[in-house]
Amino acid sequence: MDLFTRIRENAGPLGKYADVAEGYYIFPKLEGEIANRMVFNGKEVVIWSINNYLGLANHPEVRKVDAESAAKYGMAYPMGSRMMSGNTDMHGQLEKELASFVNKPASLLVNFGYQGIFSAIDALLSRKDVVVYDSGCHACIVDGVRMHLGQRFVFDHNDMASLQKNLQRAKQITEKTGGGILVISEGVFGMRGEQGDLKGIVALKDKYNFRLLVDDAHGFGTLGATGAGAGEEQGVQDEIDIYFSTFAKSMAGIGAFFAGEADIMQYLKYNVRSQIFAKSLPMPFVEGGLQRLQLLKENPQFKDKLWEIATALQEGLKARGFNLGNTTSCVTPVILDGSVPEATQLVTDLRDNHGIFCSIVVYPVIPRGMILLRLIPTAVHTLQDVEVTLEAFTSVAEKLRLGAYRADQIAAKIA
Ligand SMILES: Cc1ncc(COP(=O)(O)O)c(C=O)c1O
Repeated sequence: MDLFTRIRENAGPLGKYADVAEGYYIFPKLEGEIANRMVFNGKEVVIWSINNYLGLANHPEVRKVDAESAAKYGMAYPMGSRMMSGNTDMHGQLEKELASFVNKPASLLVNFGYQGIFSAIDALLSRKDVVVYDSGCHACIVDGVRMHLGQRFVFDHNDMASLQKNLQRAKQITEKTGGGILVISEGVFGMRGEQGDLKGIVALKDKYNFRLLVDDAHGFGTLGATGAGAGEEQGVQDEIDIYFSTFAKSMAGIGAFFAGEADIMQYLKYNVRSQIFAKSLPMPFVEGGLQRLQLLKENPQFKDKLWEIATALQEGLKARGFNLGNTTSCVTPVILDGSVPEATQLVTDLRDNHGIFCSIVVYPVIPRGMILLRLIPTAVHTLQDVEVTLEAFTSVAEKLRLGAYRADQIAAKIA
């Protein structure tokens, strides 16, 4: 069979909905400055779907440094991979400051979180090693684990008994192969907002002798006394052997980093293939990254404001009887009962009639019959935004309960 024939016949789990969903449910376009309110389909909406947690995306000092750096260096400098020709003092400076912020001896900057982490998993593991990871882990971890040529085990999400069972299996294997064990979890699971049970995981370290890698994409900047993330929040930052975060969220930029012992960072620097064979991070992202980190460190009020909004939103939703699952972060999931077609109608109503834009997750990402709306509070939201959102949610949840979203053309097409 011709490859393209097969592809044309099967556009993939999301692609098959492109003709009915693209531009609205999938690949929507948000216009205007990144803020609490933006324009969708020509109308102003309250935005609850972007991870601009601390509001840095449009901070005037961030905009200034981004622009000045682009004017000074252009978007290309430095050219080539960092290994060959694309290294600068500023890249090193950012690494030093990131390491110090998350309380680790050293760090390694990478261009993208996704590519960095899957490639780091590949670099860290040999065929003799076993990787044990949480079933709720992000696609970048799942894809990294798929590259591993040795054994891999997945434990039930945040379930320490399941982790132990899998560590026992891992230990039996490594005793034979002479390899080591890598456990991977997240600081905050971005879909439902639960913190990874890092405390529970590190309590098993002595017994099973493993190293721990934590993807703290959503914890960095939002959790812990200084904003150093979920490890700091849970008092186990020192026990995280390899700390990871992207700049895509609290830092409102592009880039990512690992942090840990200096020799391990040095190893990654020479062995993370997605980085050594890729062009170096351009200067505006590096200088912009330094500026963002400085603002993050010097302005704890950004995190306080984020939490003021998150708390008002979560408490308000709970008071109105909504099920927020087990979130322990500012990621706010709202779990409703309903079919996929109903979910599409509910979201249309929320966006078009109530001016509320949030992400929606349905089957097969979550079980059939369940709708998960995900709200991401930020420091640039207002209590007024929270108020209109609570009212809108109350209205659509009532309609859903009464079956008002059952019949519709788009719904019928998707069903
Ligand atoms: C948990 C998690 N890890 C990694 C990534 C990927 O990071 P990046 O956008 O820098 O590729 C994301 C999304 O941005 C994420 O949510």
